[in-house]
Amino acid sequence: MKLILASNNAHKAREFREILAHMGIEIVLQSEAGCNFEVDETGDTFEANAFLKAEAAMKATGEAAVSDDSGLEVDALGGAPGVRSARYTGRHEDTDADRRALLLKNLGGTEHRAARFVSAICCAFPNGDVIRARGTCEGSIAFAERGENGFGYDSLFVPEGMGRTMAELTAGEKNAISHRGAALREFARLLKEYQDADK
Ligand code: IMP
Repeated sequence: MKLILASNNAHKAREFREILAHMGIEIVLQSEAGCNFEVDETGDTFEANAFLKAEAAMKATGEAAVSDDSGLEVDALGGAPGVRSARYTGRHEDTDADRRALLLKNLGGTEHRAARFVSAICCAFPNGDVIRARGTCEGSIAFAERGENGFGYDSLFVPEGMGRTMAELTAGEKNAISHRGAALREFARLLKEYQDADK
């Protein structure tokens, strides 16, 4: 099955392909399908924003489209940056490094560093059907960055029981425990059920 990926994030696209490839799901980037727009993420929840992105790509291409809206919830910051993870500093031109620096500054020296990554997957079909899945990965925020792999907040996030940040894991190790890995495996299961029900 072929799905349009409603994202311009190359890191996410790589993870989608790594996780879904062996399940027989081919991922085509929305840019490869001629869509270069960015959708305004005006929703208050990961689920709402995932739907906005998937629906926009589905309508623009006329084909089934899948999206991920994801982010980091830090307990000591009341769940921030949450749905605003990609826009945490409030300036579009800022980098992931700027956002990680702000996170460390806002947390200060507190020992209360529990956090989780959340991924909401949404797949929108031209007939109006929608499949949703969610995955989380519990962990904590390190006191300083470690590791070179991954993207976003990976070098600050230590998954529970790992002793290494996500940026110190290989791609395979990350996909096996990540929020996106969990959400995409659940999505693949629901997609198979959906396809089987149609037969
Ligand atoms: P979105 O594209 O609006 O879903 O933004 C998600 C943001 O959350 C990214 O820009 C990252 O800052 C952060 N994020 C989501 N997933 C990950 C991950 O797997 N590793 C590190 N940061 C992530």
